[in-house]
Parts: sequence; C-alpha cells; structure tokens
Amino acid sequence: MPARVLVTRRLPEGGLDPLVDEGHEVVQRADDTPYTHEELVELAATVDGVVCLLTDRIDEEVLRAGASGTLRVVANVAVGYDNVDVAAAGRLGVSVCNTPGVLDETTADLAFLLVLAASRLASEAERDLRSGAWGGWGVTQYLGHDVHGATLGLVGYGRIGKAVARRAAGFGMQVLHHARHPTDMPGYVESLDDLLAVSDVVSLHVPLSDATTHLIGARELALLRPHAVLVNTARGPVVDEEALAAALHAGALLAAGLDVYEHEPEVHPLLLSAPRAVLLPHIGSASRATRTQMARMACQGACTVLAGRRPENLVTA
Ligand code: GLV
Repeated sequence: MPARVLVTRRLPEGGLDPLVDEGHEVVQRADDTPYTHEELVELAATVDGVVCLLTDRIDEEVLRAGASGTLRVVANVAVGYDNVDVAAAGRLGVSVCNTPGVLDETTADLAFLLVLAASRLASEAERDLRSGAWGGWGVTQYLGHDVHGATLGLVGYGRIGKAVARRAAGFGMQVLHHARHPTDMPGYVESLDDLLAVSDVVSLHVPLSDATTHLIGARELALLRPHAVLVNTARGPVVDEEALAAALHAGALLAAGLDVYEHEPEVHPLLLSAPRAVLLPHIGSASRATRTQMARMACQGACTVLAGRRPENLVTA
C-alpha cells in the first residue's frame, strides 16, 4: 500500500527512486531549506516514514509525535546515526535504518587526503600562495612530515578504518589500530594511550557515543609526538575541539586534518585561527556516486520496513 514519506532535504538525482518506484507519496519542501525541529515534530505525526540527514535531530519528541500517528521508519542518509534517538525509536516501535558499506571507500579517500594534506602542510602553503605571501622556493619552507614510512594509528577499526589501512599500505606506512574490543588482527594495540604515543599520524574512525565523546582531549593530545598529525573524519565531538586548537596554537603537534566539528556548521574560532589545520566542511562521503547510493539505500530501507520486512541496514540501540 502506498505510504507517505517525508524526505527532509533534496537528495542527489535518482536518490528517491526506490520510494517513487514503490508508488509512495514523497512529502518534501519545494526548496532545500531545512525543517525546524518544530516542523519535524509536526510533520512526523502525518507520515509513515521519514528519510532524513545527519543534520536533522530526530529525538524522542519527534519520534513520539510520529508514533502517535503512523510513523514506522526513520531512514538516515548517513552511516552515523547519533542524530537519531535509536533507543526511543525502539521503545516506540519505529525502525531506524542507515547507510553502512556504501561510503567506506569514498570516506577513506578523504581521510587519506587529510593525512597527506596535513602532513605536508598543504593548506598553509596554499594559503600563502593565494595571498601573495610566497616569495619563491625556499629550502626551509613548509617542512612537513613524510607520510611514506610513517606509523599510522587508527582509532576504530571498522569498515572505514580498514579502508584507510589499505591505502596506508600502499604508502609503505606501518599501520596500528586500537579498538574497544581486541580485534585479533595484526597491528592491534590494546591501549589507546600507547597508540597515541607511538603514531606519527592518528586517524579517528569511531562512531559517536557517550564512550567516544571527547575521546581525544587535552590529556590524550599531550601524549602525541611533537610531529604528529591528527585526522578526524568520524564525528566532531570525538575530539575536544578547544583542546585541539590550544594544542595546535602551542605547537604540541605538527598539524590536524579535520572534516567534522563539535557544533557544525560552527567551527571553534581558535581552530579557524590555528596554524597548520586543514579544515574541510564534512565532505567525507561527498562523491556524486556515493551520495546517490546512500540516498537510494536509505530510501530502500524505508520501503522495506513499509513493506513489513526487515531491512539489512536496520539499526538497533
Ligand atoms: C557521514 O558523516 C555519515 O555518517 O555518513
């Protein structure tokens, strides 16, 4: 039976196809203005499904309003789902889906871009060139740290962490990883502190949870080697942004490459002014092909739940 599905934002071309092909009614604004929280609460009560982005806060209030009507599924066009109160959804009988698997390689590409750009001080050098501050080749200018042969410490060793490890192998890096539970795989380091202390580059690949909020704070940053590079393509709050900015200003590490921030779209002013920070606006999965696949996968998950079946991409608390 056709259902009503709220799609909170414009999706890449073809992304809505699963919903359209099933004959569902798509409820969407004419433009791409985000819905306010109040609007989401109001609309949730009128639909059977919601396809949302990681910027939409789908909290208990939205889910309660939905469950008071006919809401059965929330499908997040992202692999991370910290924006959705999955526990409340479970209690209220609303299924939650995400987009695992389809963005691993694209996100790993971007993580590696940040590893390279931060290690070789690319943003700082480009800034000087564009501003006219570059006076010509100099033997002591922009001295970064070699990526080839360096030790990469991965924090989190899921699909994306492993995809970064594959890239690192091609650069002749020694790859170590830390995860909450022993992985029984080569390169596993039980203690996060030990991993931080021996790595030249640290790249974060953990989901955001209470346990990972500020996983990297002032204490952990102090363990890094003075020439270390920190890369975050996971979620902003995994790093204490103010502590990182202070460490960069103090020269306690060489550089940072960030794609995510604690309070997006705001970026801590001290981070914006920090030397040697390569800052990107949360574009880890942003290739046309991958974003289209993510949109389709989320919409397909919604269709599967609406058809009374269990989708492969179902998320549980
Ligand atoms: C992007 O950040 C995602 O979680 O998919």
